[in-house]
Amino acid sequence: MDAADVVTEFDAARWDGPFSSDDAARALAGLESGHVIFLPHLRFALLPAEQAFLTDRALDDSRKNISFDPAIGRCHGSGYEGDKLAALTVMLDRFGRNAEALVRGLLPRYAPSLHRARTSFRPAEIAGRTTTPRHDDKRLHVDAFPTRPTGGKRILRLFSNIAPDGVMREWRVGEPFPDFAAQFLPRLRPMAPGQAWFMNLLGLTKGQRSPYDHLMLGLHDAGKLDGDYQAKAPRVALSFPPGSTWMCFTDSVLHAALSGRCALEQTFHLPLDAMAEPDRSPLRVLERLSGRALV
Ligand code: SIN
Ligand code: FE
Repeated sequence: MDAADVVTEFDAARWDGPFSSDDAARALAGLESGHVIFLPHLRFALLPAEQAFLTDRALDDSRKNISFDPAIGRCHGSGYEGDKLAALTVMLDRFGRNAEALVRGLLPRYAPSLHRARTSFRPAEIAGRTTTPRHDDKRLHVDAFPTRPTGGKRILRLFSNIAPDGVMREWRVGEPFPDFAAQFLPRLRPMAPGQAWFMNLLGLTKGQRSPYDHLMLGLHDAGKLDGDYQAKAPRVALSFPPGSTWMCFTDSVLHAALSGRCALEQTFHLPLDAMAEPDRSPLRVLERLSGRALV
């Protein structure tokens, strides 16, 4: 594997396009085939006063991310208050709006059903961070979140490196999802009867966990906890410099973030029927492998 197998690159330097129909076709094909869409010249510009936020002092003591929920217009995870918190909130919202404009422009097929979920700011250095293997995003994984079942919807995430001083964000991207899933699916246990209903009742999940969500969490955990897989699985190194932007379907692209600080990230959810090739979604791949409907 090398970078050409996993990256589709664009020259764009503006969030609001315009993008040609050739660009749109190439972005769609790249994204759905499991590539990272890389925009090396697409910079998220900070206002002079925002430079002061590029420090892990922006964080609440116990957190590694600050998240902004566009539905309620509020930030969580920052130790800032008052005017400073308001200015940080404005920065995250501006990033999220730019990210949404880019995805709508470059991927017009997705525009009618694209849902902008949370925006996050990740000021802290990743390298050297200690955590449990299950929470360690330095290990190859696909995204799946215990409290947020998607019911098969896609998770599309867009990142910008805004680090000062040239600090790269170093990623690894692994093998295609069908290869990864075929190895780990046979090891997973089915969901216990009533488990999803009960977890939802207790408020442990936002909505009911589907058999698909259960398997995705299983794949996330089993992959991260397998030391042999982490040591030996195929991977490509990608370095994202400050001033660059990239996105991928993080529910199917195996990824690990090894080092870097000060990234912004916007999450989108996308229904399967918006895809040009829904058969490439993790839901359809897992349904084929397991021989049954999973939502
Ligand atoms: C992840 O989604 O695993 C982390 C990506 C990043 O923060 O660069
Ligand atoms: Fe991840």
